[in-house]
Amino acid sequence: MSVLRSVVTGVGGYLPETIVTNDDLAKIVDTTDEWVRERTGIRRRHRAAEDQAVSDLAVEAAKRALAAAGRTPADVDLIIVATTTADLTFPATAAIVQRKLGCPVGIAFDVQAVCSGFVYGLTVADGFVGRGHSKCALVIGAETMTRLMDWTDRGTCVLFGDGAGAVVLEPGEGQGTTADRGLLGFALRCDGTKQDLLYVDGGPSTTGTVGKLRMLGNQVFKHAVVNISEAVIAAAAQAGVPVADIDWFIPHQANERILKGVAHRLGIDEHKVIQTVADHANTSAASIPLAWAEGMADGRIKKGDLLLIEAMGGGLTWGACVIRL
Ligand code: UT7
Repeated sequence: MSVLRSVVTGVGGYLPETIVTNDDLAKIVDTTDEWVRERTGIRRRHRAAEDQAVSDLAVEAAKRALAAAGRTPADVDLIIVATTTADLTFPATAAIVQRKLGCPVGIAFDVQAVCSGFVYGLTVADGFVGRGHSKCALVIGAETMTRLMDWTDRGTCVLFGDGAGAVVLEPGEGQGTTADRGLLGFALRCDGTKQDLLYVDGGPSTTGTVGKLRMLGNQVFKHAVVNISEAVIAAAAQAGVPVADIDWFIPHQANERILKGVAHRLGIDEHKVIQTVADHANTSAASIPLAWAEGMADGRIKKGDLLLIEAMGGGLTWGACVIRL
C-alpha cells in the first residue's frame, strides 16, 4: 500500500561563538567544575552574542539544513520554530525567520513545549507534510536559554546553553512498512499538574515581564527516566519496530545521567547514543537537532538508519519519535 511519509532530507546545527566553561561560571556562583561534570556531564556551553536574537541562531541552522537537503529558502512553504525564548512576545519567531531567510509567503508559527518542543514540532509538521499540504518544511529548535537564567541560582544557571538545530522535511512515497523512510511513530505527553517543577516566573499576561527559569531539579530528575522510557516504548510500538532495532538514539541533552539511565532502561547500547551534553549543555528545544547534526557531520548517522529521538521539559511535557532517515 502506497503511503505519504514525512522524510528528513537535511539537518543542520548552529552554535554561537562564545564558549563558557564551568570554571568561568565558578567565578560568579558557588560551584565547581567537578560538581557540574559529575552531576550533569556538562563541561561547557555556548552563549549567544548580545546582538544575536534567537531568530539569528535559527536562520543559521536553517541555512545549513537547507544546504544539506539541496533546497533553497525559495522552496520552503512551512516553518515551525520550537522555542521558549522568542525574539518578541509576537510575532512568532517563525515569521521572523521566514523574513530573514527570504522565504515566500507560506505557513509559519511557533510551537511552545519547552525542551520537548522539537519532538512536538516535528510531529506537527508531519501533519502537514504527510497529508500533502507542504512540499518543503523547516522544523527548527532554537533557544537563547542563557537569557532566562537567574545568575545567582547555582542550581540552574550552570545547566543551560544557547544554540539552534533544524531539519528539512519533504514528502516521500512509502509502502506502509517499517522500511519506509520518514516519521514512523510518535508519542507526545503533557502533565500540567507538574508545572511547578520547572517554569519561568514571568509572562505577558501575568507579570508583564520575561521572568527567570525556576526548577526543582531533583524532582524533575525523578520523573525523567520512567516517563521518557514509557513514551519511547509507545512511539516504537506505533512505528512497529522493536527498540532493539534502533541504530541511533538521539536524546534531549539535559543531563548525562538521565540519557544514560533511559538508554540502560531500554536496553540501548551506549555506543548508539549521540551525546553532546558535555559541550552544549541543555539547549532545550535545540538540543536534539544539534546532536543529530553532529552525528551526521561526523559520519555516524547515515541515510536509511533508524533513529529514536526523545525529550522532556517544562509542562511537564515529554515525547518521542521514531524516524527512518
Ligand atoms: O531539560 C529540562 C529537564 N530538566 C532536567 O532534566 C534536569 C533534571 N535534573 C537534574 O539534572 C539534576 O537534578 C540537577 C543536575 C539539576 C541537580 O543534581 P542533583 O543530583 O539532583 O542535585 P540536588 O538538586 O539534589 O542538589 C544536591 C546538592 C544540594 O546541596 P545540599 O542541599 O545537599 O547541601 C545543592 O544545593 O548540590 C547542591 N548544588 C550545587 N552544588 C554545587 C546544586 N547546584 C549546585 C552547583 N554547584 N551548581
